[in-house]
Amino acid sequence: MERRTEHMVFAAFASASTTKTSLGAWMHPSTDPAFLSAEYYIGLAQELERGGVDVLFFDDRLAMPAAYGASTDPAVERGSRVVKLDLVSILGLLAGHTSRIGLGATYSTTYGAPYHVARQFATLDHLSKGRVIWNIVTSLNHDEAENFGTNFLNPDQRYDRADEFLEIVTGLWESWEADAVELDRTTGRFADPAKVKRVDYEGEFLSSRGPLTVPRPPQGWPTLLQAGQSGRGRQFAGRWADLIFTTAHSLEAAQGHYADQQRVTQEQGRPSGAAKILPAVMIIVGETEEIANQKNDFFNELSDPVEQLIFLAEQANFDFEQIPMDETFDDAWLDRFTGTRGAVEAFVKSGRAKFGADATLREIVKARSMTAGNRFVGTPAQIADTLEEWFDNYGADGFALMPSDTPGSFEDFTRLVMPELRRRGRVAENPEADGTLRERLGLAVRTAR
Ligand SMILES: Cc1cc2nc3c(=O)[nH]c(=O)nc-3n(C[C@H](O)[C@H](O)[C@H](O)COP(=O)(O)O)c2cc1C
Repeated sequence: MERRTEHMVFAAFASASTTKTSLGAWMHPSTDPAFLSAEYYIGLAQELERGGVDVLFFDDRLAMPAAYGASTDPAVERGSRVVKLDLVSILGLLAGHTSRIGLGATYSTTYGAPYHVARQFATLDHLSKGRVIWNIVTSLNHDEAENFGTNFLNPDQRYDRADEFLEIVTGLWESWEADAVELDRTTGRFADPAKVKRVDYEGEFLSSRGPLTVPRPPQGWPTLLQAGQSGRGRQFAGRWADLIFTTAHSLEAAQGHYADQQRVTQEQGRPSGAAKILPAVMIIVGETEEIANQKNDFFNELSDPVEQLIFLAEQANFDFEQIPMDETFDDAWLDRFTGTRGAVEAFVKSGRAKFGADATLREIVKARSMTAGNRFVGTPAQIADTLEEWFDNYGADGFALMPSDTPGSFEDFTRLVMPELRRRGRVAENPEADGTLRERLGLAVRTAR
């Protein structure tokens, strides 16, 4: 295995909430319950920045889970992803309290207006001096459509609309040339009108005139992140994304996705490697193997089976209460899902690998809670070995860090794993470098026109 010379990229995967993808996390003793306070977010961002993590990213969902039991009650009772604060406000706050870390927010192309999103992220990019990331999602469930009073679009339509959305947003970001603002008191000219252009975009779903009311963002285009896993999703990511989140439960699967994404990116007219691939991993690290295993066992006990099903129901757009818990899981159920089926299929597979071909839903769910987030458990040296193996074998250019608890597991990562990676030359020695996030991560400045 040849050693790669670039640095690994680390994105902390957080939620503006205390109820995370890691179910049960809010009950963890090292979870800070102050998730409605500014100090919580500032403290988290500063800790990660101090520890040398490249990006703090927040996920989003525009509805509480309501598919399981056809009600929000089971989710509210368990605190399952029922709180999601507005991310643009949080990033604005963090821009003023950090100086280096990339700040990422998720925003849907299905429910917002492109002009609005272009303006928000351009403003945030100025306020953060070029450190903002937009995680582009197309939104995957009916509950979100109901909150916005619109019809649920099928996945291909959502991505077609998203392509138009991005054409408008990037057009608006480019509507001011980088040197358009003159601010010349002697001539009285604020900006050069020849360098501020309309967009005049007319699509099938969306249109916008422009120009934007915000001058060109410091990054040109703020950094674009995407996590499409389907064929159409990978195509969209290949066209637009600078960073791509993936889910892979083995190095082999990660390598397959990595290679396929390079091919698709090239098909979209961009060089292979133009987008950095970050598989999502949960790292549970301890000073000794025994401590790490104890932490992992403790975490596994926090989530009950219903909470796992609430999560799967939200992804698959299907009421899992209808499926008998203790009978062999029948693949025919999969055909009734209208959300993302892939994630559930992966859990069914891991359930069968662990409990046999006749695994029940209860067993599948148990397997999920034990493996969610593709878990790496061990000492700092063991974790670093695994990260290096994935990195040097082109399964990853870096990692999206899924926390088991916040800020506890991020603190463990910066305290125990980052120094080990620094010793091995895998992350920057001095992460205080100047420049925009694109420059720091080695991402090309993008332009379409
Ligand atoms: C690590 C990761 C983070 C994601 N974060 C969000 C999110 O915050 N909000 C959301 O609606 N979807 C999120 N998604 C879902 C993706 O945007 C995407 O819809 C999903 O991976 C399925 O791919 P597909 O759209 O190509 O079917 C995430 C996916 C992954 C793998």
